[in-house]
Amino acid sequence: MDFDMENRIVSAEFSSSEDNDIEISLRPKSLDEYIGQDKAKENLSIYIEAARRRGEPLDHVLLYGPPGLGKTTLAGIIANEMGVNFRVTSGPAIEKPGDLAALLTNLNEGDVLFIDEIHRLSRAVEEVLYPAMEDNVLDIIIGKGPSARSIRLDLHKFTLVGATTRAGQLSAPLRDRFGVILRLELYTPEQLSSIVNRSAGILDIDIDPEGAFEIASRSRGTPRIANRLLKRARDFAQVVCEGGITKEASSLALDRMEIDALGLDSIDRLILKTMINNYNGGPVGLETIAAAVGEEAVTIEDVYEPYLMQIGFLSRTPRGRTVTPAGYAHLGIPMPGQQRLDV
Ligand code: ADE
Repeated sequence: MDFDMENRIVSAEFSSSEDNDIEISLRPKSLDEYIGQDKAKENLSIYIEAARRRGEPLDHVLLYGPPGLGKTTLAGIIANEMGVNFRVTSGPAIEKPGDLAALLTNLNEGDVLFIDEIHRLSRAVEEVLYPAMEDNVLDIIIGKGPSARSIRLDLHKFTLVGATTRAGQLSAPLRDRFGVILRLELYTPEQLSSIVNRSAGILDIDIDPEGAFEIASRSRGTPRIANRLLKRARDFAQVVCEGGITKEASSLALDRMEIDALGLDSIDRLILKTMINNYNGGPVGLETIAAAVGEEAVTIEDVYEPYLMQIGFLSRTPRGRTVTPAGYAHLGIPMPGQQRLDV
């Protein structure tokens, strides 16, 4: 497809709410359309098929893994494949037990309730969730003090799909109530390349296979990042290169956004450089790194570390985090006792 520069530049396609709508339009609706996560997908398809044949709701499902890997997408697919309604909320949004009671009493038989960031539910809300998950009942306390009494309401059978970045953040009683626990993994560049090509097709973006692979291999194993970079690469291709997304256009876009050949951004590099320059490459504690780079420890642990560990630049030891020889080499910094590398 040719780009019509006049039309493209004057259109309002840069607005963030439109970006959000685009993200939703890119979400696959069925397991067949969903690329990657083969292990999780294969098992899930069996559980869904079995529940469907028995005419029962699917057991409760816990999805865990780094952000941006498609936990919400997968939850929506579960609802779609089961042919039921999909309700979405998040741990911090459910402030009081009454908020959860309102959600649960509005569910129909078999509906999927998706709770994102489920590790952030308060203790009081969790207590209401247990009997709901186990026995499909809601125990509500009416009144206060000595006259308080508990009443029990029957709920429709439902499927809770919870999402969290780490299963270990969940309280043990909550974790034990999920019949299915699935870990989502970072995607390979080949899988991300398929996702980028699929998204480009839906958005009618002109891209060639090398352009897609360049974006894919610099997206830190994360579809949400790949789809975002696809849109920004389109901007550069259109305005600077006046054409479709070639390898050169995506390279230019990624370089301008300070995303390096392996997908590291300025914060990834700051983390590694700080560890090297201030702490001899480690071992250094997570809290110390967080304070030195000005990020929250949980953000470093959930967002930055998984990829840095996956590509072998960072390792976790009992005494703290360490930059590996490959991490030093990537930054072109000699390891203590080594000669400087030419870069
Ligand atoms: N878009 C985002 N994640 C996806 C996935 N896993 N498969 C297909 N399209 C996607």
